[in-house]
Amino acid sequence: MSGLRGARAAVFGGRKGLLGQALSTALIKAGCGTTALSREELGALDHETLARALKDLAPDIVFNAVAYTQVDRAEDEPDLAFELNQAFPARLAEVCKGIRARLVHYSTDFVFDGGKAAPYTPDDEPAPLNVYGQSKLAGERAVLELGGPEVLVVRSSWLFGPGKTNFVHKILELARKRKSLGVVHDQTGSPTYTPDLAENTLELVVRGAGGIFHLANAGMATWCELAAEAVAIAGLECRVEAITGAQYPARAERPAYSVLDTSAFTALTGKRPRPWAQALREYVFKDLRAELAAG
Ligand SMILES: NC(=O)c1ccc[n+]([C@@H]2O[C@H](COP(=O)([O-])OP(=O)(O)OC[C@H]3O[C@@H](n4cnc5c(N)ncnc54)[C@H](OP(=O)(O)O)[C@@H]3O)[C@@H](O)[C@H]2O)c1
Repeated sequence: MSGLRGARAAVFGGRKGLLGQALSTALIKAGCGTTALSREELGALDHETLARALKDLAPDIVFNAVAYTQVDRAEDEPDLAFELNQAFPARLAEVCKGIRARLVHYSTDFVFDGGKAAPYTPDDEPAPLNVYGQSKLAGERAVLELGGPEVLVVRSSWLFGPGKTNFVHKILELARKRKSLGVVHDQTGSPTYTPDLAENTLELVVRGAGGIFHLANAGMATWCELAAEAVAIAGLECRVEAITGAQYPARAERPAYSVLDTSAFTALTGKRPRPWAQALREYVFKDLRAELAAG
């Protein structure tokens, strides 16, 4: 991608986060001078520390892949969830505006309540069902208000990819040990491979996109379908059985349907995200094999 060659990027959460690592990889591949930041380098996330760090780095573009992502635990730690998902990105947006760096911030399908029977567009009204979704929605609104229309907010969903444990990784670990697994079949969403999300984000960035975009792999699945496909691709002899959310009670309520409509991305870039099942094969055959081989 020529548009980013020679630019300087800072990726918050870029060393250890699931998406952050994929973003760092994609930026380096695109020829961007990339600094990946984790909480060890940063320490505190207060305004002064952020301002100092970013003044030194002088990035052209800042990616925020830091978030409080534990959906169930957020119900019991709302202050921490709002600090990381609203207050921190708000400070980051102010600092970025001050140094004229573009900000790319990530959000979630969990800003929706699942009541719509068709894929959600960025114009659909959010109505989060849980604290995590509420804190992420507050974060989106804060960065757009404080950072202005050039801030890019990318909503994505159901992430899997290399470098950190995730739903698919956990399912395959369990499927290696068990003869059968019960997986929820009454929640439908858009599984998304983090390297595809990272590359497609950069497609938006080089075109100067601002405002809210939805990005996910094409197609939809229930958690059970995603698990069954992963187990089949990995060639494991574990039966994946459909159960209801009520049979697997969770602390936080989740939307029954949160498929994302990515047509605004396609309209701007002329590109279509590939189907999630194709990306899943790449994850299982390439990334997980490499991780297994590396021990
Ligand atoms: N995972 C999903 O299925 C999913 C779905 C939809 C949207 N999203 C959104 O996508 C983005 C990336 O999610 P992800 O799954 O890649 O997240 P993740 O793997 O949980 O990574 C979160 C990052 O936040 C950092 N972080 C967490 N607590 C922190 C704290 N107290 N202080 C400083 N840093 C802290 C972590 O820092 P360290 O690197 O230092 O550990 C990590 O890099 C988020 O905005 C999330 O809301 C995720």
